[in-house]
Amino acid sequence: MVANGVMKSILVVDDEVGARESLKMILKGEYQVALAKNAEEALRQVHAQIPDVVLLDLILPDMDGLRVLEKLKQTLPDQIVIMITATKTVKTAVEAMKLGAYDYITKPFDVDELRLIVNRALSTKALKEENQRLWMEVDRNFGFDNIVGKSKGMKEIFKLVKQVAETRSTVLIMGESGTGKELISKAIHYHSPRKNHPFVTINCAAIPETLIESELFGHEKGAFTNAIEKKLGRFEVAHQGTLFLDEIGELSLMTQAKILRFLEEKEFNRVGGSKTIKVDVRLITATNKDLPQLTKKGQFREDLYYRINVVPIILPPLRERQEDIPLLIDHFIKKFSEENQKNVKGINKEASELMMSYEWPGNVRELENLIERVMALTNNECIQAEELPLPVVNQSKTNGLRESVLSGQISFSKAEEEFEREIIMDALRRAHFVQSHAAEILGISRRILKYKMDKLGIQQQERAKPFS
Ligand SMILES: Nc1ncnc2c1ncn2[C@@H]1O[C@H](COP(=O)(O)OP(=O)(O)OP(=O)(O)O)[C@@H](O)[C@H]1O
Ligand SMILES: [Mg+2]
Repeated sequence: MVANGVMKSILVVDDEVGARESLKMILKGEYQVALAKNAEEALRQVHAQIPDVVLLDLILPDMDGLRVLEKLKQTLPDQIVIMITATKTVKTAVEAMKLGAYDYITKPFDVDELRLIVNRALSTKALKEENQRLWMEVDRNFGFDNIVGKSKGMKEIFKLVKQVAETRSTVLIMGESGTGKELISKAIHYHSPRKNHPFVTINCAAIPETLIESELFGHEKGAFTNAIEKKLGRFEVAHQGTLFLDEIGELSLMTQAKILRFLEEKEFNRVGGSKTIKVDVRLITATNKDLPQLTKKGQFREDLYYRINVVPIILPPLRERQEDIPLLIDHFIKKFSEENQKNVKGINKEASELMMSYEWPGNVRELENLIERVMALTNNECIQAEELPLPVVNQSKTNGLRESVLSGQISFSKAEEEFEREIIMDALRRAHFVQSHAAEILGISRRILKYKMDKLGIQQQERAKPFS
């Protein structure tokens, strides 16, 4: 493996000369290989020049392999160590993994397996380093350690957030559901001079129309039937800080008018009150609606739209920034590993490719939920393609089909047939192979389903297959 024109380095530590030499033979074409025959030599070499990977025999003449591992990890906690074991010492290899070894291989070596493990270790390392580097970069610039992204679109957003954080301009964040609107609004607040004052959120869609005015502006005692106490509104609570008005497209025209007044005059009255209240609040709003469209339809005030749209931030959907997907996967694996004390290290190539080609209609939130779910269920250290939910797997099947037609590998009618088969099989699985339910899911009659199954050669015995 070569990165930035430099061959990656591997240190092989084994007391058997045969094992050392055969490992060198296998690896030397792709990597720079150094050899050590005992623990002392190994530690000396590592400290002289840190290798990318250490292949470490469990049994060494001068020190137990586990001790060597511990010593290495004490000084170099991120060092990748892969243990070499004989079949009878596999149990100890598992011990070693608890001490922080990346993986183990058993003697005699399976060449493909060895290459695979080393490659995977190096890719995981590269990704971690890239994430760390990006974090440091972002952190140096903005201190956003929980926001991941290296795509051009996200880099521009980071820049914009930094610029806008220093001002008190009103910001409108737009983007599909789950693209990170709330996360960005917090980043703006916590990087602004207002960061030591409150960040107050209100979700306009979650509050009934009759209560929203009092929620925003507060009310005086006795203002309406249930107003037994005076209540401060969110604008007042957010004094000197930031108010995040989420889903602003859901507000009624009447409430829109009140917010407009606040933006123009920086003051308001509590419901049922005559006293004018002045506050210093920075407003950030967000929506996944098309506000210009709503203004055309008369559902959103044009003057308010211009007032809140002083600085627009448009978050691109995840399908338009595929290069962020591996970083996000790594980020969430790390997050849920820590939260749930799971030892998941990564995701295999096939699974990663499926996730890269998936459309992510629910954007980052969907990806986050998927990783959480898969990690809760898996016993593997490396997430496998089979563990991904059907929509992710199937969509890329469909993409594959499209490619095959466009590149002339299969005919259009064959693709149509395949597509029909996929959908019918999915519906049958979802219906636990009860045909009448499957027909209902597909919105066709049972007779037509039966006809199509016969035509496609889908047999009744599929029923015996487990639901997946
Ligand atoms: N770039 C990112 N890096 C890390 N996590 C992210 C990123 N973008 C979004 N997330 C995470 O994805 C989830 C959804 O983000 P958020 O709630 O900010 O989206 P939203 O645009 O407000 O969604 P909605 O429109 O549905 O309210 C959150 O858990 C958030 O932390
Ligand atoms: Mg949101």
